[in-house]
This record gives sequence, structure tokens and C-alpha cells, in this order.
Amino acid sequence: MAIVTLRELLPQAQAKGCAVGSFNAADHSMAEAILQASAELSSPVILSVAEVHFRYLDVPAFLRYLRDRAESLRIPVVIHLDHGTRLETIQQGLDLGFSSVMIDGSALPYSENAALTKRVVQLAHKYGASVEAELGHVEGGEGNLTDGTEVDPANFTDPSQAAQFVAETNVDALAVSIGTVHGPYRGEPKLELGLLAEIRAQTAVPLVLHGGSGLSAQDFRNAIAGGITKVNFFTENSLAGVGAVRSLLGQGRPVGYPDLIAAAKAQMKAVVAQQIEVFGTEKLKG
Ligand code: 13P
Repeated sequence: MAIVTLRELLPQAQAKGCAVGSFNAADHSMAEAILQASAELSSPVILSVAEVHFRYLDVPAFLRYLRDRAESLRIPVVIHLDHGTRLETIQQGLDLGFSSVMIDGSALPYSENAALTKRVVQLAHKYGASVEAELGHVEGGEGNLTDGTEVDPANFTDPSQAAQFVAETNVDALAVSIGTVHGPYRGEPKLELGLLAEIRAQTAVPLVLHGGSGLSAQDFRNAIAGGITKVNFFTENSLAGVGAVRSLLGQGRPVGYPDLIAAAKAQMKAVVAQQIEVFGTEKLKG
């Protein structure tokens, strides 16, 4: 099936009232867990590779493998560059065959974020790729697994800026800050659904929720009902893989490295399948 972009996939999700998972892969076993779970449920998927994970990868070789695998499956797959922070990374990603990119200028002042996003949109659209940007800032880092991150309302998306940002940049999807953080939460997550409704009222652009790990199924249902069509999900999947490895090692019997990889992959595949069901992505079955 085709490698597609957010432009084809997210309006369909919007029409059907569901979301598509954007799952991060930092190696082949994660990618296989994501692709196999999605293919078995006949559900489209967004396979994301984050700029911060490039250091674990031979990126050109990984992209050749991802494109080849995606083309061999009977589901639409977006190959998405997650949290690109530099124009050089975006250019490299487009040249390597990502069908979609995120430019994350969310730590910049509004005007710089808008100007950077506009440049990336002009570049990426020449390649036929889609672009996601972020307005407001979703805090936290994938590496911070100990303390967790506290939500800071000062970083929430300002709904009065949303329509202008989309019109100025022509971006294809917009990540919003409505109470989530990347990685573990300090305290209980609480989605600002009123804020989401205000943003939705300002713009029809497909909306993206980062920091999916730690939210409940009901949180996701509420977010999707409020207009979220792409959910980014990583930490829980990663920790599920680690948990499977720990449990196998904890059994105290000799295990080979391939056994560890297989156990981690099986567990991550189960997590991805569960999230696909929660997101309702099967509504987009071809
Ligand atoms: P989590 O790791 O909190 O699920 O967030 C993932 C994410 O937003 C990647 O962009």
C-alpha cells in the first residue's frame, strides 16, 4: 500500500471521529512492533522517527528499510520525522524520504515559530510531504524517566493565535498544548477540554496531541471528540519493552539476546494494538 502523508490521513480521521497513532521507533524492533500491530488490525499508522533518536540510528539505512516495509504492507503508512528542530534536519529528512515532517519551533517566540514553520512548509510541500508544527509548548523530554514533568499552564496554546498561525504558515496539522507533557507526568494528567474546544472553534486544521503516554482511554476519547486526530505515543511503549526484558531476565535462566528482542517486541506490539483500539483507528480500515 502507499506511503501517505498527514494530508490524506488526518481529514479522514476527522470525518470518522477517530485518531491515528503516531508511534515512535528508535530501532527495528520498535518499528516492527508498530507496523505489525497496525497491519494485523488493518489500520493506518504514523511511524515516527524523532530527531533526538537519530543518534541511535543509521538514519539513511533506517529510512530505506522503513520505506521498503511500508510499501510491502496493505495499510497506509506515514513516515514522519518527529520534533525536527533544525532546518538542516528537515532538509535531510525530506531527502531521505520522510513523507511528513514536524518542525518544532514551540520554544521560540510566536513570530519566529511562524516564520520557521512557513519556510519548512514551503520546502516540504515541494517534496509532496506534509508538515506539522506546534503552537504553545508541550513540555518534558523522552529521557526524563525519573521525576516526571509538571504541566505549566503558561505554555498552553493561546486559541486567539491558532487561526492566524495556520493562515500564515499553511501548515497541515497543528500540535497543541492542552495539559499533556512528554514522558511521565508529575501528578495526574488533566486535559483542558475547554481550551481544546476554543482552539477547535478557531481553526479546522487537524489537531495533534503530544505526550499520549499516561492518559486514560477516557482521556483519549474526550480528546478525539474535541477534535484531536493524531496522538503521539512513545514512553509507555518503550517502558513496556523494557518491562518485558526485565521480566525475562528476572526468571534467572539463561537467555539469548534474540529472546530479549523478541520479548520486547511482542510486548510493544500488544501496547500498540491496544492504543489503536482506543484511538478508534480501525474505523479507517480500507
Ligand atoms: P510520550 O512519550 O509522552 O508518549 O509522548 C510522545 C510524543 O509526544 C512524541 O512526540
